[in-house]
Amino acid sequence: MKDYELFTRDTKAFVYGSQTRAVQRMLDFDYMCRRDSPSVVAMITPERGGFEKFFWGTREIRIPRIRSIGEAVDLFPAADVLVNFASQRSAFDVTMEALEADTIWTIAVIAEGVPERQARILAAAAKEKRKWIIGPATVGGIKAGAFKIGNTAGTMENIRMAKLYRPGSVGFVSVSGGMSNEAYNIIARTTDGLNEGIAIGGDAYPGSTLLDHLLRYEKNPEIKLLVCLGEVGGTAEYEIAEAMKDGRIKKPLVIWVTGTCAKVLPGQVQFGHAGAKAGSEIETADAKNAALREAGAVVPDSFDDYHLRIKETYERLVADGTITPAVDFDPPQIPMDYKQAVAEGLIRRPTHFVSTICDERGEVHSYAGVPIDDVIEERYGIGGVIGLLWFKRVIPPHAREFLEMVIQIIADHGPAVSGAHNTIVAARAGKDLLSSLVSGILTIGPRFGGAVNGAAEHFLYGLRSNLSPREFVDAMKKKNVRIQGIGHRLHTVENPDKRVEILKGFAKENFRATPLLDYALSVEEVTTKKKANLILNVDGCIGVLLVDLLKELGFGDDEIDRMIAMGTFNALFVLGRSIGLIGHYFDQNRLEQGLYRHPLDDILYDVPERPEEVG
Ligand code: ACO
Ligand code: LMR
Repeated sequence: MKDYELFTRDTKAFVYGSQTRAVQRMLDFDYMCRRDSPSVVAMITPERGGFEKFFWGTREIRIPRIRSIGEAVDLFPAADVLVNFASQRSAFDVTMEALEADTIWTIAVIAEGVPERQARILAAAAKEKRKWIIGPATVGGIKAGAFKIGNTAGTMENIRMAKLYRPGSVGFVSVSGGMSNEAYNIIARTTDGLNEGIAIGGDAYPGSTLLDHLLRYEKNPEIKLLVCLGEVGGTAEYEIAEAMKDGRIKKPLVIWVTGTCAKVLPGQVQFGHAGAKAGSEIETADAKNAALREAGAVVPDSFDDYHLRIKETYERLVADGTITPAVDFDPPQIPMDYKQAVAEGLIRRPTHFVSTICDERGEVHSYAGVPIDDVIEERYGIGGVIGLLWFKRVIPPHAREFLEMVIQIIADHGPAVSGAHNTIVAARAGKDLLSSLVSGILTIGPRFGGAVNGAAEHFLYGLRSNLSPREFVDAMKKKNVRIQGIGHRLHTVENPDKRVEILKGFAKENFRATPLLDYALSVEEVTTKKKANLILNVDGCIGVLLVDLLKELGFGDDEIDRMIAMGTFNALFVLGRSIGLIGHYFDQNRLEQGLYRHPLDDILYDVPERPEEVG
């Protein structure tokens, strides 16, 4: 790289700090310039490693996050620029560390308010190592068509309008970053465009000065016209005047020192920047403009004429053949971010999901339209929540109470039943909570706990077909189908299931009518005549009562059939029994029970000695 060149189309940079938006802007600029590869090779973020995703045009790419400068320079020795977004507190240490790194040559220090003493140390250290510091307190700079520091030059739209995606003939340097955006637009309108622009930052002791950059531009053969914006305060502009006088600057320079209005304001005015105040007559904008004019610079009468002087000077250089105007081209489009396009109403797309039971987008999320704070305040309870999330209805108190009663009643039925047994065996095999729970839940089916659905279906079939209980039992036997909800291993007519008694009692007292329960009970009369254990069991009772309840709540036959098809009725057993299964898992853990192995004498071994060979 030539000594006057800080950035090229191949520049590789690190960005220090979690400035993802700035990185994306840098990459968008690279893409617009048709660079071969992104300029940012890594982010340096001590707080975390991993990577960050960014767009390269329409494609997503990964950029690593590296925790330290040391690691970053080892991994990417070709990167010679550091864009330092470290805070005011750590900007100094980070910059000093980067100055020590052999491969980093240019550091842009973005932080404002770096103490003057530290800024002077940084500037001196950089000079000694022949390295470059841009800033502190700067937005950075831009090499048109090649590389952009952080947020320099504003939006992509601004960059496109100012034609910064390809180099022109103008080298620009200013104190202020904000003014530089304005200047880039002026330069685009009045010349063949910017070649390079740097904002040195508004502190009293910048790491590099206006003159440092003008001298670089002087050496750069691509740059034919120098444009500069100085500022009231300090004496840096006199250095420029000197350089013009002693021949170090030969290229035409259009310059304006801002802050001429300071003289009409009372007292010593401090402008936005730390360095922008005139301590004595020679630091005033007027004095500096006069000195520059005298040294041969093109100095307008006011900022209003700045663009005219740039235009005239440029046109003169074209006329005398010094400048061959750069050829323009259409840069690639930078795709708009999806979020922004949606916000501006520019695009739409069909959704992939529909949800009609819960919405989490508001301040407080809602169950079927009822905000959860109302759910709590109005005491919906578990029953009310099931009403909202399963049935999308605000169900009345007796319906809530019924659902809650079911859950409590079927929460557990001892360690011997299929589900609990499986959970216990899994827990004792060292499985975790979820695996043990799921292993219990997975036993719920047509013989155990999962007959609620089937019971609703079977008894509804009998009732809707106008079959007498006897006809129904016979019809099912003919089909060789066990009536779901009938029969129990333990409970009989003489040893009734208390749970069934409770549910029946509640329904008789609170439901408007119980037609399906009544039908099931008359079926029970028939089956128990055959065998005392063929009672209406707890699954059956829940199934038929739930149908009666849903009918009372206004659900039609079609809706109920659809619920049966979806397994809605079994869901209540799954929900309730999970409480017990989780309890068994905890119980086994607390008891520190070891692996279960079934006793061999509890198994009938009936294995043939050796089967005969076939074929
Ligand atoms: N419908 C019609 N006949 C039945 C039914 C039924 N649901 N259940 C048993 N029988 C008959 C059998 O066909 C058999 O008749 P057979 O002597 O003429 O051969 C007789 O009754 C005894 O059958 P078993 O299988 O010995 O009965 P068991 O007591 O072992 O079965 C079980 C209990 C598994 C619950 C059984 O009754 C059944 O499958 N019921 C339907 C499923 C069901 O409702 N499960 C939920 C139970 S409750 C719960 O898990 C929370
Ligand atoms: C249960 O609720 O788990 C029981 O009714 C099943 C059984 O086998 O006793």
